[in-house]
Amino acid sequence: MNLPLSLYVHFPWCVRKCPYCDFNSHPVRGAFDQAGYLNALLIDAGAALGDVPPQGISSVFLGGGTPSLFDADSFEKLLTHLQPWLEPGAEITMEANPGTVEYQDFSAYRDAGISRISLGAQTFNPAHLKRLGRIHGPREIRIAFERVRAGGFENVNLDLMYGLPEQTTAEAIEDLSQALALNPEHISWYQLTIEPRTEFARHKPPLPSERKIEVIEDTGRALLEDSGFHRYEVSAWARPGRQCRHNVNYWSFGDYLGIGAGAHGKRTREDSTGLQIVRSRKAAQPRLYLAEPLETRHNAVPDTEIPLEFLMNALRLTEGVSADVFPSRTGLPLASLEPSWNELREMGLMRKDRIATTAFGYRHLDAVLQRFL
Ligand SMILES: C[S@@+](CC[C@H](N)C(=O)[O-])C[C@H]1O[C@@H](n2cnc3c(N)ncnc32)[C@H](O)[C@@H]1O
Ligand code: SF4
Repeated sequence: MNLPLSLYVHFPWCVRKCPYCDFNSHPVRGAFDQAGYLNALLIDAGAALGDVPPQGISSVFLGGGTPSLFDADSFEKLLTHLQPWLEPGAEITMEANPGTVEYQDFSAYRDAGISRISLGAQTFNPAHLKRLGRIHGPREIRIAFERVRAGGFENVNLDLMYGLPEQTTAEAIEDLSQALALNPEHISWYQLTIEPRTEFARHKPPLPSERKIEVIEDTGRALLEDSGFHRYEVSAWARPGRQCRHNVNYWSFGDYLGIGAGAHGKRTREDSTGLQIVRSRKAAQPRLYLAEPLETRHNAVPDTEIPLEFLMNALRLTEGVSADVFPSRTGLPLASLEPSWNELREMGLMRKDRIATTAFGYRHLDAVLQRFL
């Protein structure tokens, strides 16, 4: 199997839990065991990389939680350990919360081997930042961004959310303008979703109407395009050549290893019976993970579920994937996507030359996916 392989590393702690967030993140409450966690990651990585050839990893994503709570020394140790498996020039992203890094020297992260920073800005509006329970104001976002640049990073993403409680269209667009003024290479522009088991699900805040969301999206799209950004995924916008390689690998149904508390992985294996896709998951509770870093749950994906899983990822990409990617990554014949694919082509919702929606189909992505159910 010659599938691209990436590595996700999860860091499960945050200064405070944001009321909208359902990521596996836990408030630090004082000190946390940085050395113990690093040690667990090294044990976990050793086992996960066991059958991976040298230079077999094309990207690493250090995600959270808030990885930037860990100091550069920890990343240096981790990345030194991973070095033999990293492809030359591998993309190595670290997520950072502006409230934890505004006075940090980012060159140390750069020296540790990190090549891309993703800053969680969310909004530049002080009242909305407060409502979102963020630990920083707009000033800290700008300072953090400057520190990242001063540290030598030329590949930086800003996370923004829109559709915030009682947000006006003008406020949402102003957030994009503020982000664009910083001149990042990439912007992730997410619509706020109310996730079950979050504080916002328990006490639902008043959100903008669907009509208002549409206006925000249309106006925001035009602004991003006029500013030289290209939308390559539902929420991902990049300057030319600056797409996040790690996330593109997820969406094009590549394989990935997941290490750290609650991390997920996906591996495709080939034997005499064909391809088998196995998903893996680590213990989510940091305490349990620290005790048993090698404990992993495995789940084989049934053949019947594979086409929809594939499409739910690939069709998020505005350009989708070329048709040969489906058989090579699922082991199933292209014919298993028909007749739905043919019907959707005839309706002008999917392209003929690729597994991709048309611009019209992209606006009705859920309906397109329904056809494959
Ligand atoms: C792991 S966090 C990023 C790093 C860091 N923890 C932070 O918040 O600054 C990933 C991103 O997902 C987005 N996100 C989290 N919860 C969301 C939700 N309920 N709806 C939409 N986007 C969400 C936020 O933009 C957030 O920055
Ligand atoms: S800082 Fe990021 S990961 Fe942590 S709770 Fe907030 S959004 Fe979630």
